[in-house]
Amino acid sequence: MDTVLSVEAARAHYDALGQGQDREMRYAEAAFSRLIGATGMSEVGSAVELGPGTGMLAARLLRDHLGPDTTWLGLDISQKMRELAAERLRAFGERVRLEDCEGDGRLPVPDSSTDLLIATYVLDLLSPSAIARFLADAARVLKPGGQLAVAGLAPGTFSHAGLTMTIWTMVQRLAPRMVGGCRPVRLEQRLDPQVWQVTHRSRVTAGGIPSSVLVASLRDG
Ligand SMILES: C[S@@+](CC[C@H](N)C(=O)[O-])C[C@H]1O[C@@H](n2cnc3c(N)ncnc32)[C@H](O)[C@@H]1O
Repeated sequence: MDTVLSVEAARAHYDALGQGQDREMRYAEAAFSRLIGATGMSEVGSAVELGPGTGMLAARLLRDHLGPDTTWLGLDISQKMRELAAERLRAFGERVRLEDCEGDGRLPVPDSSTDLLIATYVLDLLSPSAIARFLADAARVLKPGGQLAVAGLAPGTFSHAGLTMTIWTMVQRLAPRMVGGCRPVRLEQRLDPQVWQVTHRSRVTAGGIPSSVLVASLRDG
């Protein structure tokens, strides 16, 4: 059984959550550090992020890791999240753009235009068909050699954190709003090895919540 929030329900949830999003995502910092360490940033001229929330990761990337001319586009269904991210990222001026999107996994971005595509804790909300659409569009919008960098909830294992995720998944199935609609998604098995080369995969636990981090580059041709 796979329960997902509708796009309308997810939008209403994140619009209402507002700044509370930052408190909820404290466990994400360790996965962000892992993702940053595993992604080549020096050659990135244009980055796109799906579901950036309040722009926590983007602020770190733009301040400390991406070049001074690198542009960043955030695509989020929640107007409140876009406003909070715009506020947080104001200092980066025209390098930053925030836009609405349909929420169906598609990326309103031209073909072969992007060096880095980021999605943290947002594929966890998408339906299987929206994830498939996202991955197809990721291959369309990235330049050859471009990187896809994803972090999300990790499936449970036999550990304390694994037990937490088993309970989390049960809650997500019964009352998805209680966990922001998020559930662990196994992404690697959805990546076509003819299209993607996985360059990093790992698991990191913070605050008792396990996350998985995956970086893959788009094969040339
Ligand atoms: C759990 S939060 C993660 C925020 C941020 N990426 C992070 O790691 O802290 C999910 C974010 O994705 C947005 N979102 C939810 N469903 C979405 C969809 N179908 N398409 C685009 N954004 C979506 C939400 O508005 C929210 O900003």
